[in-house]
Amino acid sequence: MEVTVRPYTDPDHGAVVGLLQRTLTRDPISRERFTRQVLLDPNFHPEGAVSACDEQGQVAGFCLAIARQVPLENAPPDDDRGYITLIGVCPEHQRRGIGGRLLAAAEDYLRGQGRRSVLVSPYAPGYFIPGVDVDAYAGALPFFRKHGYREVYRPLAMEAPLWDLTRSGWLEHRETGQDVRVEAYRDEDTLPLLEFVRREFPGDWVRVVREVMTRITAGECPRRRLLIACRGREILGFVHHDRERFGPIGVARPERGCGIGHRLMFEALAAIREQGFRTAWFLWSDDNTARRLYEAAGFREIRRFAILRKDL
Ligand SMILES: CC(C)(COP(=O)(O)OP(=O)(O)OC[C@H]1O[C@@H](n2cnc3c(N)ncnc32)[C@H](O)[C@@H]1OP(=O)(O)O)[C@@H](O)C(=O)NCCC(=O)NCCS
Repeated sequence: MEVTVRPYTDPDHGAVVGLLQRTLTRDPISRERFTRQVLLDPNFHPEGAVSACDEQGQVAGFCLAIARQVPLENAPPDDDRGYITLIGVCPEHQRRGIGGRLLAAAEDYLRGQGRRSVLVSPYAPGYFIPGVDVDAYAGALPFFRKHGYREVYRPLAMEAPLWDLTRSGWLEHRETGQDVRVEAYRDEDTLPLLEFVRREFPGDWVRVVREVMTRITAGECPRRRLLIACRGREILGFVHHDRERFGPIGVARPERGCGIGHRLMFEALAAIREQGFRTAWFLWSDDNTARRLYEAAGFREIRRFAILRKDL
């Protein structure tokens, strides 16, 4: 079969989404999500989104490479690196070299953007999952290895049942002191929270809390979606959740190890449960934090990912 590898074009939309649904079976991507998270991403460039087409013009494979164009608000520039955030080849066309050609085209795009390394795929713009799910996409690991990628580390996703969540179960031994309050976000927390996150958590979290506060004040979600731990007027930590998706959660460095994280976690899980959800999950932690924090709330590993890297 003759296959052409070329940049994404608009008529590919439905076929590419269908292909991703058949190949990334654990991560269903709807048409709307593809539009929102890929096409509307200001970092998207069609040259970095490569489709493989057969002689009839049918899409047999797709790969998305991202070179950040819009710098992160509060992080060192990453303009020396690029990211692969999606790749899939139709099951009936796998092991014929199509994936390798897509990857080569994606890497060429990144080189052309001046990137000297490529990652699959930590906090990339519009990322779907961290790296490769080592169980769900087991074939992708030897595939990337064959093309010169090596593992950087293995984060995990976790899930907790909320059926029997009670305060007395695990929070009672971790009292944080009377002077620490946990409250839903108020308008007057806006600037102090941005400043807190900017200071304590360089990276993408300023954008995250900025977007959440924007949505709350637009009436699109409840204030309890963002909970803040304070002593007096001083912010000590925060936690966010979105329906049953938990996180991010962060406590100021000097305040860690005093139960504030546990209390924030409990309040967020209670809020998730009160909305009618019976599990909570998140996509990204390291083993250390899993042991120190999440396991106390009944979170257990549900997915394991490999973050990969290659020098270009
Ligand atoms: C991973 C994927 C994109 C590879 O595409 P592909 O067209 O099959 O890859 P290629 O034919 O170019 O493979 C090149 C080499 O990679 C390795 N490889 C690819 N798939 C493999 C598998 N399932 N098991 C072991 N090795 C594999 C082999 O060394 C292969 O060479 P070989 O066939 O001569 O032995 C494809 O298998 C796929 O779509 N999988 C499902 C979606 C997925 O896992 N995406 C990645 C999620 S992060």
